[in-house]
Amino acid sequence: MFLDNFIGIFSEDMAIDLGTANTIVSIGNRGIVINEPSVVAVKQEKNGRSKILAVGSVAKDMIGKTPVDITAVRPMRDGVIADFEMTERMIRYFIEKAHKRKAFLRPRIVICIPFGITQVERKAVYESALSAGAREVFLVEEPMVAALGAGIPVNEPCGNMIVDIGGGTTEIGVTSLGGLVLSKSIKVAGDRFDKAIVDYVRQTTNLNIGERTAENIKFEIGAAYDLKDELSMTVKGRDGSGFLSTIELKSTDIKDALKEPLKEIATAIRNVLEEMPADLAGDIVDNGIVLTGGGALIRGLDAYLKNAIKLEVRVAEEPLLAVARGTAKVLENEQLLQLISDA
Ligand SMILES: Nc1ncnc2c1ncn2[C@@H]1O[C@H](COP(=O)(O)OP(=O)(O)OP(=O)(O)O)[C@@H](O)[C@H]1O
Ligand SMILES: [Mg+2]
Repeated sequence: MFLDNFIGIFSEDMAIDLGTANTIVSIGNRGIVINEPSVVAVKQEKNGRSKILAVGSVAKDMIGKTPVDITAVRPMRDGVIADFEMTERMIRYFIEKAHKRKAFLRPRIVICIPFGITQVERKAVYESALSAGAREVFLVEEPMVAALGAGIPVNEPCGNMIVDIGGGTTEIGVTSLGGLVLSKSIKVAGDRFDKAIVDYVRQTTNLNIGERTAENIKFEIGAAYDLKDELSMTVKGRDGSGFLSTIELKSTDIKDALKEPLKEIATAIRNVLEEMPADLAGDIVDNGIVLTGGGALIRGLDAYLKNAIKLEVRVAEEPLLAVARGTAKVLENEQLLQLISDA
């Protein structure tokens, strides 16, 4: 124990938010050192093997624009590991980049994994971190660390509800007394919003746009509720006959486009509220709901949910970083680490 504490001072222990859309790595008192999309660009070699060309932002910029022998893949999609080998290689790349093999001692690594991944997938993540040089690996799940990162007093004997809307999944968790009392995960989050925008644009204007364009539309004019000042932008795409064409989209169009996935999120939250013991439900009425994850940045989402669920809803500070911050907090607290990690 003493030796471990002693080693801890010198090693650069690492916290990783392994998200299906973004991976964030922080190191002890250096804070966040990597914040990049979970994307890998791979070139198919003649000998049948594949070579990694880029990982992170550079790879994401290649999505939808690669020549035939190069593919830009998101190895974790919809909250599951779609491509084991690429996920392993991506984890190793990020760990090695963050660590830079500076410290002579190997770090302890806490990884927040997508909620509900299988035992086999967990093992793959665990082994990749070990083979990248970790001394010890701990796996933690998203709702609890999202709550920690959002500053929710998880140890108190009081119910708090966290809703993390990431890329692949939305996780709903209720914390009390240092544990998760209830949780639910649905595969409706940022990626589904992008797909809903692609479908909406095709159905209403006959224009085909790619998922990167849809995500940009979401960033620029995405809204869940009527905005005080309506936003608009021009969008380029290909029409039904293959010609390039330009259209004008407004934030109210995106509100319409997102109607279905947002309704699914509201329904899932309502279901969790219905399953809750009465006392805890009373706490949520008092404390409201906290939103984290990139999806929480959709304009007016708090107002939309407040109207749909009839409870107070607030977006955490820097929602994209909440899980990473929460994971780093776990690393600072040995008791918490043992309590909530399962590796
Ligand atoms: N300003 C914004 N407005 C709307 N959506 C945004 C904004 N910024 C990021 N997002 C969306 O947030 C999602 C990524 O969020 P986040 O990084 O929390 O996901 P993740 O942790 O990688 O995924 P998961 O938790 O599902 O594994 C993406 O779908 C992205 O398009
Ligand atoms: Mg996440």
